[in-house]
Amino acid sequence: MAAWYGWIQLVHLACAILFVGAVSFEVLILESLHRHLGHDEMARLEELVLRRARRVMPLAVLLLFASGFAMFAVRCPDFACMDTRFGALLGLKVLLAFGVLGVFLSAMWAGLRGRMSPCRFRYTHRIVFVLMVGIVFLAKGMFLL
Ligand code: HEM
Repeated sequence: MAAWYGWIQLVHLACAILFVGAVSFEVLILESLHRHLGHDEMARLEELVLRRARRVMPLAVLLLFASGFAMFAVRCPDFACMDTRFGALLGLKVLLAFGVLGVFLSAMWAGLRGRMSPCRFRYTHRIVFVLMVGIVFLAKGMFLL
């Protein structure tokens, strides 16, 4: 394995922690505040969270995908691993990651156009949360199963 691989892996893991951590915070902590805050207060809070997330997350997501592609090229050059169990699980993981990217980009776009309602905000994060849990299990499962 190339000497740089471990560093790229570290970048990938750090960005994954940042991204998965932010989504987990929104689904498991922020959502519970609905019970305590009125609709307008909640909408304002979510707007502020989204504004901050738009500053931090794009770089983390960019580095996450760039490092993912770099490691993919080493682990599975020319898609040669795809007919193995490892390759199938890795392929599924990448597919789910693209699902996350699609949902993430459409949410960003909706936010920029002022079309992110608290309801859409909540469901977007729940979908991304479920996909993320799948990705993390596949990321480790592909080495264990
Ligand atoms: C939402 C996006 C993603 C998340 C949350 C994510 C998360 C993770 C995590 C947690 C690991 C385990 C790292 C470790 O234990 O050191 C991992 C490994 C890996 N990921 Fe991702 N990943 C994402 C996207 C991608 C993409 C788009 C690709 C490739 C195109 C990719 C390719 C890989 C590869 C090849 C490994 C194995 C690294 C190794 O241990 O050698 N990932 N990913």
